[in-house]
Amino acid sequence: MPSISFIHPDHRVERVEAEIGDSAMRAALVNGVDGIVAECGGSALCATCHVYVDKQWISRLAAIGDDEDALLDGTACERQANSRLSCQIKITPVLDGLVLLLPERQV
Ligand code: FES
Repeated sequence: MPSISFIHPDHRVERVEAEIGDSAMRAALVNGVDGIVAECGGSALCATCHVYVDKQWISRLAAIGDDEDALLDGTACERQANSRLSCQIKITPVLDGLVLLLPERQV
């Protein structure tokens, strides 16, 4: 299974295994990673699953969708060029080793 490393604002790293086809958000929740709220359960409605994608990985992700793009304007922490919603990051084999940085807060 691909692994994902979540890096907390205090630099703590949590490395989890993710199922192919799952979202990065779900991998975080299933493995008890705090820092992802995911109020809407992955329906692209809440923006509480915001992450900053490590710049080495951003080009390997699928293109950002219109709904995700709009929601990212309403994140609790400032949107940056590498901001994504983790519920919209579908895990594929090429994402093995993905690194996602967690924002200071989600709400
Ligand atoms: Fe709500 Fe991602 S879980 S937008």
